[in-house]
Amino acid sequence: MTILIETRDVSRAFAVGRGLFAKKRMLHAVNGVSLAVREGEVLAIVGESGCGKSTLAKMLLGLLAPSAGAVLIGGTDARSLARVEIARRVQPVFQDPYSSLNPRRRIADIVALPLEVHRVGASGERRRRAVEMLERVGLPARLAPAYPGQLSGGQRQRVAIARALVMQPEIVICDEPTSALDVSVQSQILNLLMDLQRELGTTLVFISHNLAVVEHIATRVAVMYLGRVVEEAEAGALFGAPQHPYTQALLASALTPEPGLGVPDLGLGPAFPDPLSPPAGCAFHPRCNRRFAPCDAVEPVLQPRAGGRVACHLAGV
Ligand SMILES: Nc1ncnc2c1ncn2[C@@H]1O[C@H](COP(=O)(O)OP(=O)(O)OP(=O)(O)O)[C@@H](O)[C@H]1O
Ligand SMILES: [Mg+2]
Repeated sequence: MTILIETRDVSRAFAVGRGLFAKKRMLHAVNGVSLAVREGEVLAIVGESGCGKSTLAKMLLGLLAPSAGAVLIGGTDARSLARVEIARRVQPVFQDPYSSLNPRRRIADIVALPLEVHRVGASGERRRRAVEMLERVGLPARLAPAYPGQLSGGQRQRVAIARALVMQPEIVICDEPTSALDVSVQSQILNLLMDLQRELGTTLVFISHNLAVVEHIATRVAVMYLGRVVEEAEAGALFGAPQHPYTQALLASALTPEPGLGVPDLGLGPAFPDPLSPPAGCAFHPRCNRRFAPCDAVEPVLQPRAGGRVACHLAGV
């Protein structure tokens, strides 16, 4: 299958530190991630808050430069592609539909803007395509002249989806597209994304902290922990037989969802580690109930597992 976008050993560090003159420390938000997104698939990226999902998403979108490694779009290093070229092929849907839409623009204009930027058709044609796209995502044409402030959260997210799809990009990167919405609306938006993905054949990268959310939509899942991919597999294999203790914990917490659940309580004891001083060895070992000799000293590398890869010393025993 064709690989549309891939990361090769990609990392992103941020210099952080209090005050102007305080010594800066490096925070490794994403650490040596290699992932390939294949045509037509829905790749879910899951993990707790702070594990680096959005940082990875921004690098896939060309909004953030990697500090090491590379992002390849259609086999070409994204650094040698123009910003508009990346935007034509890779489009985002962000978490917060309140801040991601310009409040002073009418929604038909918001959806038509990418067409304008890429100089597609005359203004009448652009407007027709924008209204068509709005209807496609379940918004009546009469809302075309409305402003974002007149819409509900779910309707705004539909506008964001219409804007992402209007240029028929190869890939749409959805970063927690439902987690800012009311629970009752979340499944509508998920279903819409699934329908559009099937109808248009768009490839999706779907980011979420909740495995339960991705269970119905993902064809493949990558699990991140403290900036690294710790397990990656076909959805059936991952949900049927999770190998990494962290994936198992995520799955267990996802099986007992509460309405309005934010970040799941994994029942793992110690909280998510400080990314400024990551644990030695396997970063997950302080929370792992199956840790043994090598775990606090040797960092496990990704190894093949049925239908994917896993980075855990248990996989080798
Ligand atoms: N611009 C930045 N400057 C400094 N640190 C940053 C910056 N952006 C992200 N980070 C840090 O990098 C780590 C990963 O952040 P990121 O937003 O990618 O996580 P996430 O998995 O998307 O979390 P969430 O589920 O809360 O959205 C966090 O520790 C975060 O504080
Ligand atoms: Mg995020």
